[in-house]
Amino acid sequence: MQQWEELKAECLGCNKCELSNTRTNVVFGVGNINSRVMFVGEGPGENEDLQGEPFVGRAGKLLDKYLAAIDLDRTKVYIANMVKCRPPHNRDPKPEEVEKCLPFLRRQVQLIRPAIIVCLGRIAACRLISPGFRVTKDHGVWYEKGGIKFMGTFHPAALLRNPNNKADAFEDFLKIRDELKNI
Ligand code: URA
Repeated sequence: MQQWEELKAECLGCNKCELSNTRTNVVFGVGNINSRVMFVGEGPGENEDLQGEPFVGRAGKLLDKYLAAIDLDRTKVYIANMVKCRPPHNRDPKPEEVEKCLPFLRRQVQLIRPAIIVCLGRIAACRLISPGFRVTKDHGVWYEKGGIKFMGTFHPAALLRNPNNKADAFEDFLKIRDELKNI
């Protein structure tokens, strides 16, 4: 799709925030642009920055397992991040960095037109669902906005730190599978 390639080229050349000074690669996103479901993480980590692909480190391997459990993989979904460049030392992206980068995600959503957007972790859920989103309390709940169903769930890196939440995260993925059957 020409618009997609233009958007990607624009993103790869972006210098709108200070993250562009320290990045190795822009991590635009990966997957199927015809998918009905998008996953949105926080921002690239070290491995993602080096390889230019989202969720390729340990957290990514765990995400792949959850996807496989519901018969999905990264050729069937689209995976992107709130910010496309790595925040140094894996700090949280600053609000102004998120705002500068958000138009790229918006355009990705407009072009993919997913039925479902799954927010992986607090940063994505607070910006895309609601500012007071609490993952432990609000995960697995569907929110409808502009004709798209949104759900927030645990960030896979948080699950690596706190495996007690893995069962809850699995339930969330089952809800995603069920919802995909309805659309
Ligand atoms: N964490 C994220 O939020 N995104 C990635 O791409 C990798 C780790």
